[in-house]
Amino acid sequence: MSGDQLLLVGVAVLALAAAVGAFAIAARRSGVDWRKSLSDETRAADRSAGVELPPVPVSSDEPQPEPSVLPIGAADEPVQAAAAVAVQVETEQRLVEVSPEESGVTRRQFFNRALGVTFGTFSGLLGTSMLAFAWPRISGGFGSDVNAGPVGDLLAQAINADGSVTPVFVPEARAYVVPGPPQLSDEFAGKPVEAGGVMALWQKCVHLGCRVPWCSTSQGFECPCHGSKYNGIGEYNAGPAPRNLDRFAVELTDGGDLIIKTGTVVETPRAFQPSVSYPQGPSCIGGG
Ligand code: FES
Repeated sequence: MSGDQLLLVGVAVLALAAAVGAFAIAARRSGVDWRKSLSDETRAADRSAGVELPPVPVSSDEPQPEPSVLPIGAADEPVQAAAAVAVQVETEQRLVEVSPEESGVTRRQFFNRALGVTFGTFSGLLGTSMLAFAWPRISGGFGSDVNAGPVGDLLAQAINADGSVTPVFVPEARAYVVPGPPQLSDEFAGKPVEAGGVMALWQKCVHLGCRVPWCSTSQGFECPCHGSKYNGIGEYNAGPAPRNLDRFAVELTDGGDLIIKTGTVVETPRAFQPSVSYPQGPSCIGGG
């Protein structure tokens, strides 16, 4: 550090010290006595705690109580005139005991109550959040078992007269119901992904989560976000997706309804030997 810089720093330190000193002197001259700033409630609380407070000094600036003077009688009453003595009545400062009810809410009570209200609010919000998180499982929405209706009706809707497929979308389950192939690939072996000849595919792309629409011309699912493509039962075909479309476990009721268990997601790796051919026509998003 050069000499000029040291000099500047020294001047700045001196100026700061001078400012602090001036502030301290001004504060002392302001004559504010801390004892005067105490409220009646604080004094009462201190008294109840056994703290002795010194009396508040009377400032010379404040009006002094007028000394009481005994009335002087008539001039022709010598005894009274001779005895006329000014008696200064001592003013006595008395501290009066005040009950907690009279003194209102103390500072400690205020902070205790504020703490209780804050804790209660936080607990309420936490409980509400947890209830909202668990609500789908309680109410039967997404995250619970969804009844998609008779599996025969679903198959009739999904398979067109010309043999092409149009998946049935079940909004409550956020899933496409598609006809399953006669023979499933090995990656599905032993997993509850097919029931009554149908599968339930989650609409969410396994790359970054876009909703994947159906392409009727190619007979597959094609993601418009980054170009991932899947065949008619959601097996990986192309793009950045790391695996097949996820799907939900399914089962049939005794009455033949399809139950989509949206709380049970089944992940499978890319298929080495896809169960369904793809594409069967032009792609909806282009590309190879
Ligand atoms: S989100 Fe579907 S390919 Fe990226």
